[in-house]
Amino acid sequence: MTNLPAVVIDNGTGYTKMGYAGNNDPQFIIPTTIATRETPSGNLAAKRGIEDLDYYIGDEAILNSKTYGINYPIRHGQVENWDLMEKFHQASIFQYLRCEPEDHYFLLTEPPLNPPENREYTAEIFFESFGAKGIYIAVQAVLALAASWTSGKADQTLTGTVIDSGDGVTHVIPVAEGYVIGSSIKHIPIAGRDITQFVQQLLRERENSIPPEDSLEVAKRIKEMYSYVCPDIVKEFKKYDSEPDKCFKKHEFLHSVTKKPYNVDVGFERFLGPEIFFNPEIASPDFLTPLPEVVDTTIQSCPIDTRRGLYKNIVLSGGSTMFKDFGRRLQRDITRIVDNRLKHYEVLSQANINKDQQIQPKMIDVNVVSHKRQRYAVWFGGSLLADTAEFYSYCHSKAQYDEYGPSIARFNRVFASIM
Ligand SMILES: Nc1ncnc2c1ncn2[C@@H]1O[C@H](COP(=O)(O)OP(=O)(O)OP(=O)(O)O)[C@@H](O)[C@H]1O
Ligand SMILES: [Mg+2]
Repeated sequence: MTNLPAVVIDNGTGYTKMGYAGNNDPQFIIPTTIATRETPSGNLAAKRGIEDLDYYIGDEAILNSKTYGINYPIRHGQVENWDLMEKFHQASIFQYLRCEPEDHYFLLTEPPLNPPENREYTAEIFFESFGAKGIYIAVQAVLALAASWTSGKADQTLTGTVIDSGDGVTHVIPVAEGYVIGSSIKHIPIAGRDITQFVQQLLRERENSIPPEDSLEVAKRIKEMYSYVCPDIVKEFKKYDSEPDKCFKKHEFLHSVTKKPYNVDVGFERFLGPEIFFNPEIASPDFLTPLPEVVDTTIQSCPIDTRRGLYKNIVLSGGSTMFKDFGRRLQRDITRIVDNRLKHYEVLSQANINKDQQIQPKMIDVNVVSHKRQRYAVWFGGSLLADTAEFYSYCHSKAQYDEYGPSIARFNRVFASIM
């Protein structure tokens, strides 16, 4: 019997990406937001038993935020409110994807270091509430590695370092043959939301045409449309002085309430926004380590025999890695750190031993992989894996769940061995 395509859902802190396996893009990308109404017990809706249906998710939740309470069931990548998460899944499946869960297998994603109990809760929701045919819970970073195979530059390997930068947090995750090296994962508190806020602050200091209630949205649009990573900020400032016509941009926005148009000049924030990955001190004194240094420290803390593979395949994933030339700058800065260390070792060894005994350290190949599916890399990697015949044998089935209970979902087999 052929299976209907598997459903692939990647629930992020900011956005949920969902669709069917085998496709290149998710069918729906909606904010991971739910709007509910506090219903005092005994009211009409509660009496009719329909209070459970009185909620919205995604963009509709935001539209109804005046009359409903807005909630974000996922924080820093992890589910915080399971009741709301169940409602969110319910609406995702029945209102958005419009599928019968009994007929489909589901590929769901989880952040690194997700506690195993969370997988049990997910299994309970999908098997007991929805009667899903089967589920597989994949680690986001592993899916991001699979997604990079389409770049043509990366080997089909599940060894590499994933830089996943979404809205709330940036993770650096080393993976060796499909297994995450959990003890070496690092995260930095700089991601999309911080860049948006920094751009908003820069605009506020200069542009007074922006209505305060629209300023966050304007900053986000400017960030997404015009920002890029430059090689050197001092030179970039000079370029803006010498070629202002080329560098400064103008964008027309519409006031969200009055719908009147207004113009915003876009200037240095174009390159200063994403610069906070490389020079965090320009935005805040709380976190000072540049991302390339964090990547290097992460790899250096991994077992020595994995390090070459981890430098060779540094893969980008998530919306906040989309800035033009982000990968190029990262590659340059990490290469500098690695080369400087090698030079340092060389000097040390020259000082200690005779010339004929010297061993030349082997160069390390640093390679940062950008690719076309980077924006939704986790989802796309899920779409690829869930489209293979082997996928179904990796899933937990409804029959297994009924026999053994939620604990079956604690472990999910690693895909590396089949690809
Ligand atoms: N073209 C772009 N350039 C820069 N940033 C972008 C672009 N497109 C989207 N973003 C930013 O990417 C972020 C959302 O990314 P993503 O969907 O990967 O996050 P998420 O998975 O919801 O969150 P997390 O991974 O933190 O749980 C937002 O901050 C958004 O502004
Ligand atoms: Mg994400």
